[in-house]
Amino acid sequence: MKLDALITPSEFAALSGRDLSRTACVVFDVLRATSTFVTALHHGAEAVIPVCDIAEALTLRQQRPEVLLGGERHGVRISAGGVEFDLGNSPREYSGVRGRTIVSTTTNGTRALRACAAAPTVLAASFLNLTATAEFLLQNDSENILLVCAGTGENAALEDVLGAGALCDLLAGASRAQDRVEPRSFHALSDAAQIAWRIYRESKADLPGAMSSSENARRLLAIPGLRDDVAFCLQQDLYPLVATMDKGGVIRTV
Ligand code: MLT
Repeated sequence: MKLDALITPSEFAALSGRDLSRTACVVFDVLRATSTFVTALHHGAEAVIPVCDIAEALTLRQQRPEVLLGGERHGVRISAGGVEFDLGNSPREYSGVRGRTIVSTTTNGTRALRACAAAPTVLAASFLNLTATAEFLLQNDSENILLVCAGTGENAALEDVLGAGALCDLLAGASRAQDRVEPRSFHALSDAAQIAWRIYRESKADLPGAMSSSENARRLLAIPGLRDDVAFCLQQDLYPLVATMDKGGVIRTV
């Protein structure tokens, strides 16, 4: 099993040229898309459909008036084409979605998920469902695991790299008691995966402190109604569920 990581949005944008036929893609958009999608599924959402842009979301709503529209631009709920989206992109908004299908477009997270569509396995990962995701991957035994960090704008996002590194830590079967770290469940970590893993191990003692310096966290912390999202999205294993995107681009709980 080989473990690799994409750190910047330009890397996932180039995935169309990569053979993903034997790869499980694991997408992290910790602040906040994948955290929000996992939360929605925990609260009983039927499915989440990530789309790349607002026009696609509006078209889907015309075709399927029953769906809820969610997502953000510049971190806040979308109002476009005379349509007020039903939900923004705060996971704390998604407690009342039982049985509903949510069509979501966000700045980076939905693009990253759609960029992985050619892979046979695509997971939406976050701190909220980290261990369940790791366990699924180890049972799934994919030849390659590609951790895809959604980023912020066109830049790397520290919080996504921390999430990817935390997953590496679990997958490596790190022996926490002795704090010895010896990969035993996969044979090769790319340099990018090692970078993520090392950053996580250096930060794990104070993740809130590490996260507070990220561009996206600082933006959210400055918005009174959104600042609590940062701490919410840092909770590890709050929702022991696995969120997979099928060939039709629909995310559901396994
Ligand atoms: C993203 O897609 O970049 C994030 O989800 C943005 C956000 O939630 O504010």
